[in-house]
Amino acid sequence: MTLTEHCPLRNRNTFGIEAQADCFAEYNSIEELQDFLHQRKESGNTSPLFHIGGGSNILFLSDFQGTILHSGIKDITVTANEGDDVYIRVGAGVIWDDWVQYAVDSHWYGLENLSLIPGEVGASAVQNIGAYGSEAKDFILFVDAVDLQSGEIRHFTAEECQYAYRHSIFKSELRDRYAVTHVHFKLSHSFRPHLDYGGLRAALTAKGIEEYNLTSEQLRSTIIEIRRNKLPDPEVLGNAGSFFMNPIVPKATFEHITENYPSVPHYDVDTDHVKIPAGWMIEQCGWKGKSFGKAGVYEKQALVLVNLGDATGKDINGLCESIQADVEAKFGIKIVPEVNFIGSIA
Ligand code: EPU
Repeated sequence: MTLTEHCPLRNRNTFGIEAQADCFAEYNSIEELQDFLHQRKESGNTSPLFHIGGGSNILFLSDFQGTILHSGIKDITVTANEGDDVYIRVGAGVIWDDWVQYAVDSHWYGLENLSLIPGEVGASAVQNIGAYGSEAKDFILFVDAVDLQSGEIRHFTAEECQYAYRHSIFKSELRDRYAVTHVHFKLSHSFRPHLDYGGLRAALTAKGIEEYNLTSEQLRSTIIEIRRNKLPDPEVLGNAGSFFMNPIVPKATFEHITENYPSVPHYDVDTDHVKIPAGWMIEQCGWKGKSFGKAGVYEKQALVLVNLGDATGKDINGLCESIQADVEAKFGIKIVPEVNFIGSIA
């Protein structure tokens, strides 16, 4: 267990926000985490605990008065092979894209469309990360987690995780209650690519790649190119990927919008609901490429808010609220952040 008192957090969140935690605790095994929780209990320490992954989906509004936990559990183990299926248990501290690369190199198929998503494996199971028509939940069978109150290990089935679009039980009723230690994935020995997400087939064709002889390496590298073209590199421009979720609205709301905007992009969710890209609405409000102090809206993708240099959590939050107000005034839809806010504005 590595404990760092008064830990600076700027390099631990991809927004690059300056903040500090009273303590940062990194554990390398389940036993280390359980010992830490036990000692805390014995000493009567009731200060807040917050578990972090790669810091790619959080916004620090203030310093964190408590302990931030981080997993250093990085084992990858094949637990079974059954016909076409391969079952793999992956430590929460493995960097997500290292895991995707490992799977592609091992000829285990399924995760290619989720290439280059920032963050770690534990957070993938909390956030249900997704891109290009795939979501983490499509491949997750079980999640192992430690109860931060009792130290007990619990296994959650995918059903118990209550997965939905960018959602799981770990973001709602069990928020801040469990530390994910391992995620169990089911991948395939056969390559069955999903190319139906708008733009993906066109990108492959533009590279001269035919679907019939497409390889998983080619699909992965194409996804990486698309993402690099559209999304800012946090090393260069602080950001947390999509800042807002795409709202799911009743069909009547969508039809009302089409009266003024006949070509509004959308995805059907079910017979009564439609998902509308928040980035499109933000662009229609004139925010794309604009800034608000040191916080900006990325010029190539309006769903991404960026730190133009030394922005505070308060600056980003101010931009967020202005955008929310404009989108609501124009479209009557309240867009909700996907990013998790930590701390509070004094
Ligand atoms: N659009 C605009 N203007 C913009 C941005 C988007 O008009 O500034 C339009 C696009 O033209 C397109 C539609 O909105 O018609 C959708 O855009 P895009 O395909 O870029 O995807 P998105 O809906 O904005 C979602 C995910 C991304 C994921 C992409 C690709 C969410 C919140 N975001 O974005 O995930 O990479 O689809 O699958 O669902 C992330 O979560 O951090 C993330 C990057």
